[in-house]
Formats: sequence, C-alpha cells, structure tokens
Amino acid sequence: MDEMIITVKVRRYADPDELSEEEQRLLEAAGEAMQYAYSPYSHFQVGAAVLLADGSVETGSNQENAAYPMCLCAERAALASAASRKPGIPVQKIAVRARHEEKIIDRPVGPCGACRQTLSEWEDRFGQDIVVLLQGEKGQIHRFYRAKDLLPLSFNGSFL
Ligand code: THU
Repeated sequence: MDEMIITVKVRRYADPDELSEEEQRLLEAAGEAMQYAYSPYSHFQVGAAVLLADGSVETGSNQENAAYPMCLCAERAALASAASRKPGIPVQKIAVRARHEEKIIDRPVGPCGACRQTLSEWEDRFGQDIVVLLQGEKGQIHRFYRAKDLLPLSFNGSFL
C-alpha cells in the first residue's frame, strides 16, 4: 500500500485591485455577463468570461430550462461561444462570478462537475493550462493555476 497526496495551490485575494489589470477586466466581464443569465427556476445568475490567446474575451451566462437537467452553465456557454466564434484560438483564463436574487453570495462559487470536466477537456484540446478565477457577487477571489487542479485524476481522451 502507498498513499498519494494531491495538493492544490489556490491564491486568495481580498480585493480585485490585487489582481493584474487583465484579470480585473476578466472578472468585470464575468460580472457583466451575469445580467444575461436566464434563471427563472434557480434565481441564481452566473457569468463567465474567457480570455483567448489573441487577447479577445468571450462571455457566457447560465441558460435554464423547465426540464431542469437541460440547464446550461455559464462556463460551458462561454467556452462553446469562444470555440464557435474563434475556432482554434486557445483559452488562457476563465473568470466566473455568481449572484442570487434572494441572498448575497460573498464567497467564490465552485464550478459544477460537468464544467470542471469541460475545462479539463479544453486544457487537453489546446495543450495549455487555463487559469481559473472565481468570485461571488462580492468578496474573496480564488485563483487556480490550472483547471485540472479542480478535478484531480480526471477522465480524459487518453483512456479511449
Ligand atoms: N450554474 C452555472 O452556471 N455554473 C456552475 O458551475 C454551477 C451552476 C448554474 C446552472 C443553473 O442555471 C444554476 O446555476 C443553478 O444550479
């Protein structure tokens, strides 16, 4: 028997001012994207903004459906938009923010499992790490160095 220890380095920022201007802008773009969420069922609005290698930013927001499992998360909406509008351009960073209509979300919201799996695929797809920035409506920001840190030992195409 042996044991494996998996460590994840997360930078935590009390204020967006502590981030680079590029990352501040990306968080702002995620915040703006929240307003386009369609979330009549959860009342939870999520915005995501991805920074591409050509310097452009694509955004997405969660889009719900009365058939709940069909709900599309903001992260996957942003990644699909980027891949569709800017095919072949690697994604370097993603910022995600969320708010709730009935309470203040003052801590970073972790992406769901499906979005972690999708981000992992995007890292494989372009062969480069994706920085992940997470924030609620306000409060602390978490910065992960790579999306795979959010999904250790993950499934990927090498098994197929
Ligand atoms: N949601 C996201 O957009 N991203 C996540 O990573 C977590 C959940 C959305 C899906 C649904 O519209 C609402 O938040 C509540 O689950």
